[in-house]
Amino acid sequence: MLNIDPSIYVRHDVFLAEREKLFATSWQLLGPMSKLTERRSYVASEIAGMKVFAVRSNDGVLRAFRNVCRHRGARLLPEGEGTCGPIRCPYHQWQFSDAGELLKAPWYGEEPGFDMKDWPLEPISVQEWRGLVFVAIKPACGLMEQMGDTVAELAEEPIETYVPVRTERMIFDANWKIYTDNFVEGLHIPGIHPAFHAAIDFEAFQTTAHDGLVRMTAPPKDGLWYRGKWLWMWPNWTLSLFAGGMNTSRINPIDENRTELIYNFYFADTSDAHAAERERTIQETLGVVREDFEVCVETQKNYATGAYRPGPLSPRHERGVAYFQGMVAEVLGM
Ligand code: FES
Ligand SMILES: [Fe+2]
Repeated sequence: MLNIDPSIYVRHDVFLAEREKLFATSWQLLGPMSKLTERRSYVASEIAGMKVFAVRSNDGVLRAFRNVCRHRGARLLPEGEGTCGPIRCPYHQWQFSDAGELLKAPWYGEEPGFDMKDWPLEPISVQEWRGLVFVAIKPACGLMEQMGDTVAELAEEPIETYVPVRTERMIFDANWKIYTDNFVEGLHIPGIHPAFHAAIDFEAFQTTAHDGLVRMTAPPKDGLWYRGKWLWMWPNWTLSLFAGGMNTSRINPIDENRTELIYNFYFADTSDAHAAERERTIQETLGVVREDFEVCVETQKNYATGAYRPGPLSPRHERGVAYFQGMVAEVLGM
């Protein structure tokens, strides 16, 4: 099995095709449900550059919309989380209800045929699964179908009981697929993560590909905060278990050369007595994540210059890479 054509990591036309055929049509992890339980709370984010938000409307219904004003297309809510009143566009002050209806178009003028009912926000799909909120712009399938074997894999893990305590966002200069290729294999652990390598039984590291899921496991040695199971879900989110909690991340392309990671950390025990322990887990995890950036950035340069021709994938360690690349090739029709 060979690595995929490296040009798909550096071409702008491929990024645009991925946006349309993959990111607009799949369910994307927006974050923990607990950020959207209060009325009028919202979470705004980008999906491969496409601006969206989810909001708990005042009537108690969870809704999601494109974060795009119907007047001339301005962004309505800043990325991040917060509480909104009626949603007022910063550009010319059109006002939308938190259920998406246009309420006011100040100074617009008289025009026969202009009806505010014709200009609501564009709704998108939103769904909760076990304490996590997913949105989809034009879903090609149901969330459960996309989840595939992930549902059974996490059935025994009480993920909805873990409380989110921190969101971290990191940006680096490499294609989202370079980072994903890296995430779904453990073969780089000895070279790139020496301290992490020393903390697991690497000889017993296992990688298996399932429907919608790559599963990596290794027995942890004493003192490692991880519980020895790392999951990656198609097309771009991850979930890793550690003692008394977990983290999730979404691997979000900014363009073909730049990627953001949106991490959330969740813990069962949020008491003050364990604050230092939680902080250590968060910082050590982020440290391991950052160790991958340099190799991704420099690999991106080799792909960009045409200096690399596809090499072979390890049958033992790179089944996840082959699975992910195969799914991407299918979406792109390669
Ligand atoms: S673009 Fe929003 S009011 Fe003009
Ligand atoms: Fe890594």
